[in-house]
Amino acid sequence: MNSRKPSQPDAAAKDTPQIDPDQQPKHLDDCRRCALWAHATQAVGGVGPNHAPIMMVGEQPGDKEDQQGKPFVGPAGQLLDDALEEAGIARHDVYVTNAVKHFKWEPRGKRRMHKTPAQREIDACHYWLEREQASVDPRVIVALGATALKALLEDRDARLQAVVGKVLEHGGRHVVPTYHPSFALRAPDEATRERAYAAIVAALGEAGKLAQRVAARESGR
Ligand code: URA
Repeated sequence: MNSRKPSQPDAAAKDTPQIDPDQQPKHLDDCRRCALWAHATQAVGGVGPNHAPIMMVGEQPGDKEDQQGKPFVGPAGQLLDDALEEAGIARHDVYVTNAVKHFKWEPRGKRRMHKTPAQREIDACHYWLEREQASVDPRVIVALGATALKALLEDRDARLQAVVGKVLEHGGRHVVPTYHPSFALRAPDEATRERAYAAIVAALGEAGKLAQRVAARESGR
């Protein structure tokens, strides 16, 4: 872990952080491909087995993830853990990461409020997502929310609502799109929260079955 005290986004507006969009860093902590590094405590890379059958991709680290340096360890992570358990998948068997590796936030009083990453930040961070996919080589990728879906399909116009509940193919892999756990936590009404949670559990169950099917096919070759 290579943490440091993050600066306030406001302060940085006066003092534009150094970026190099063409940089090809070896280590995530050295990344300056976009400006988000300047306000984050640390970069948050993926966690899981070196080769995992299932990869799960979220949007970006939140406040807790930024502090701890690990993905999905806050409230959204707790919901994801519950959904994984219901779907019969052990979290330690899957690789968990985010489309964007630094926490993007804005100050509200003493709190750091999540800000959706811009397309240029998703594009800049695709460098890392590509590397993770190549090295983990998952059979199935679960896209948790619209940002992950856009990043994985490399399509800024991808619409989550149009593909939830389907299985897509991209780059020779199955992609299972579903809602972001934060949506299932924060949707304004209980019925929507319940539906979103059930959809996440169903998507994870589908991903588990698909991964087993692909494994069986590969071992029968
Ligand atoms: N939300 C995400 O998309 N990723 C995390 O790691 C935590 C919250």
